[in-house]
Amino acid sequence: MRVGGRAEWLLEPRDPAELRAAWLAARERGFTPRVLGGGANLIVDDGELPGVVIATAQLRRLFRPTPDGGDALDQAPSGAVALERERDTRLVAWCGASLPSLVSAARDLGWSGLEGLAGVPGQLGGGLAMNAGGRWGALWDVVERVRVLEPDGTLRDLTREQCSPRYRDGNLGLRLAVGAVLALKLDRVADVQERCRSFLTEKNAVQPVSEHSCGCIFKNPDPELSDGRSAGRLIDDCGAKGLARGDAHVSTLHGNFIVNRGAATAADVLTLIEDVRDLVLEKSGVRLESEARVWRARPAS
Ligand code: EPU
Repeated sequence: MRVGGRAEWLLEPRDPAELRAAWLAARERGFTPRVLGGGANLIVDDGELPGVVIATAQLRRLFRPTPDGGDALDQAPSGAVALERERDTRLVAWCGASLPSLVSAARDLGWSGLEGLAGVPGQLGGGLAMNAGGRWGALWDVVERVRVLEPDGTLRDLTREQCSPRYRDGNLGLRLAVGAVLALKLDRVADVQERCRSFLTEKNAVQPVSEHSCGCIFKNPDPELSDGRSAGRLIDDCGAKGLARGDAHVSTLHGNFIVNRGAATAADVLTLIEDVRDLVLEKSGVRLESEARVWRARPAS
């Protein structure tokens, strides 16, 4: 969204062991760290963010299991592993691997399951926390297991069934996703490429993909309460497209996106979100629930 202030402390661990050590070091000093993935679904408040932010940007490793089926998440293999694409169609990734890198790795191997995420920004960790996805599928559809860091610093592997992910919610609670094993399906390279291309074309036509935003602002409501209308449609129907606060605008292309036209502040964006929520409630009786996360700061002095 390109808004917001600065962090008091920023830690950038390079591997899962350092991530755990950073987490524990912060907790021992009385902080509850905030964890920053790709920031694609996040609005950072203006001013200084108190405490510790742990960024996962360095935890980018993405690899295939070893030929004997080894899929240890903590240690990426040091050398190249030559495996035919037909063998073991799983990807192992750390939480800082970008979703676009996962989609293109699967696409190039002709493995199906991640095409629905074509064009979705952000990283694996945030994608797992939010169950990123859309009409053509969501990330948790392909999760075999996820490694999580419990608040007390314990590492634990959980299967998809143990997590019970839901629409836009990986249901991880206070746990942090450190990495995951994704199980994909062998397909024809050309078919996977074609699905990625067509989903992306469709998305580009209806979403303001080249502008700065944090994706959809609101979750789609229960269709029973909204007459089957999506959040974007409800916002459109009440004439809120184009509403603005400073440089924050409700996209004229898709009602559920707020775009930063240049110099918007977090306060502009957050006020505009409440304007839209109030308007939709008044006109349709539906109270929209936020999808984007907000990190509150203390006001700058
Ligand atoms: N619509 C309008 N006006 C608008 C926007 C949408 O009438 O301004 C109508 C569309 O014509 C369509 C319906 O509303 O009939 C749904 O719109 P769309 O197909 O754009 O999908 P969406 O439900 O708004 C969801 C996800 C997106 C994801 C797309 C495509 C949510 C909140 N949004 O959007 O995810 O990219 O499907 O798969 O679930 C995100 O979560 O950040 C996000 C962008």
